[in-house]
Amino acid sequence: MTGPQIAITPRAQPRSPAKYTCSNPCTMITMGAMGDLTRRKLLPAIYQLAREKLLDPGFRMLGVARDEGDDASFRAGMKKAAAESDEIPGGLDETVWTWLEGRLFYCRSDFTKPEQYETIKSAIEKIERERTETKENNRLYYLAVPPSLFEPILTHISESGIAPKITDAKQRPWVRIVIEKPFGRSLETAQALNTLVLSRFGETQVYRIDHYLGKETVQNILVLRFANAIFEPLWNRQWISHVQITAAEEVGVERRGGYYEEAGVVRDMFQNHLMQLLALTAMEAPASMDANAVRDEKAKVLRSVRWLTPHTIPTDTVRAQYAAGTLDGTKVAGYRQEESVAPNSTTPTYAAVRLWVDNWRWEGVPFYLRSGKRMASRVSEIAIQFREPPRLMFGHHTKTELTPNVLVMRVQPNDGVSLTFEVKVPGAAVALTNEVEVAPVDMNFSYNEAFGEHSAPAYETLLLDVMIGEATLFTRSDEVEAAWRVVDPLLKYWEEQSPRQLPTYPVGSWGPKEADHLLAEHGFAWRKP
Ligand code: BG6
Repeated sequence: MTGPQIAITPRAQPRSPAKYTCSNPCTMITMGAMGDLTRRKLLPAIYQLAREKLLDPGFRMLGVARDEGDDASFRAGMKKAAAESDEIPGGLDETVWTWLEGRLFYCRSDFTKPEQYETIKSAIEKIERERTETKENNRLYYLAVPPSLFEPILTHISESGIAPKITDAKQRPWVRIVIEKPFGRSLETAQALNTLVLSRFGETQVYRIDHYLGKETVQNILVLRFANAIFEPLWNRQWISHVQITAAEEVGVERRGGYYEEAGVVRDMFQNHLMQLLALTAMEAPASMDANAVRDEKAKVLRSVRWLTPHTIPTDTVRAQYAAGTLDGTKVAGYRQEESVAPNSTTPTYAAVRLWVDNWRWEGVPFYLRSGKRMASRVSEIAIQFREPPRLMFGHHTKTELTPNVLVMRVQPNDGVSLTFEVKVPGAAVALTNEVEVAPVDMNFSYNEAFGEHSAPAYETLLLDVMIGEATLFTRSDEVEAAWRVVDPLLKYWEEQSPRQLPTYPVGSWGPKEADHLLAEHGFAWRKP
């Protein structure tokens, strides 16, 4: 925060569930039903949809996993997960749970083995036969599994006939497939996965998930830009000096050291979440809010991002790892000391990158992107910093003393928008000294204050979208490949030029000092939100 705050008077009304479309009836076949994602994200989202009466009574969930179990034990496990979830504020409502519980089923199966798909097929058909609320047997396959299982599952659900290819998005019953991230681990593997997916399914059946797109402020970027007349005329190289996109996390790699060693921050956060934030910030106005119109523009702007090369990578990028330290008085391990991490690992947990978007709108405007684990606080935001005023006439003030205008779209926490601008400090003795005292203030909009409620968790929004066939918040094959195109040269270069030790940053800091130079070169500094 820069200075005094000016609050926005809330005019908005709390959202009314009546305005939201109820899901289509369907069976959600969840591959990996005993995993972390199902327990921590999917089940709480399903529960919340049920609580808000946004789930069709014909909804069923068939959990599929290798673990021993039956419907009763699955329901008990899911109840425990829901009760422990911090995404369900206020605890479980027994009436809602009873309604949902009767709609949960379990099928024990090893989905790597083709012969086991007969069992899965029977379980789905039994649900469809016995369901009285509807005869519309829509199927939603959710791949909540590690990426090594994407290929076998996609192949087997296709070959066993339980997920036929459909090219007409309007066909009923529908079959949709949700694929979790990471979608590939390089441009080449993402292309191969797209080829496999599209040889077996229609593009409109496939929902590649990036949960950042389900976050309220991320969805708000397009509304802010294109439902208001005051921002877009300034949204270009003439008025914007640079853009900072930050996704900082306070947590470390937690128990995911094994996965993270393979991924690193670029695959984990840049290829998906940060590229999406960049695309939404930099894209042109779409012809409509139709999924393909929006995705056309996102893919187009991602293709305009200048390639990083062995020549520019050393000057335009920084990588680092968190080092052991103290956080809130508690000793915290460095990355190399984390569980399942090699003691000589060179996997980056922080990266900062300067990118250029080579088009008429953005020529000469640097986009700085950074993300890291174990940083000072959990903050994701997009900050648009405007140019200096062309001339000043306020006494001794020089342009560099003024705080630039900054428009910040806060993704989390406290999602909202703020604008920093200069005002006159009251009471300064203008007449005597010919000086006007100037100070920055923030005008602040917060979703919570304006709408009186917290935003829906991303998975709730996204699951409902899949169930109603709304694909705008999911990434299309060409868009995923365009995003890989940006990060792939960086990953290759870093893997080839692997030093014995990466620069480090202390836990609880804003990253390594090398990242400050990246901005200082152009006279800028990272925000410390
Ligand atoms: C995931 C990454 O995609 O996003 C995690 O795999 C990261 O490493 C998470 O912690 C961050 O999401 P959020 O919603 O907490 O900002």
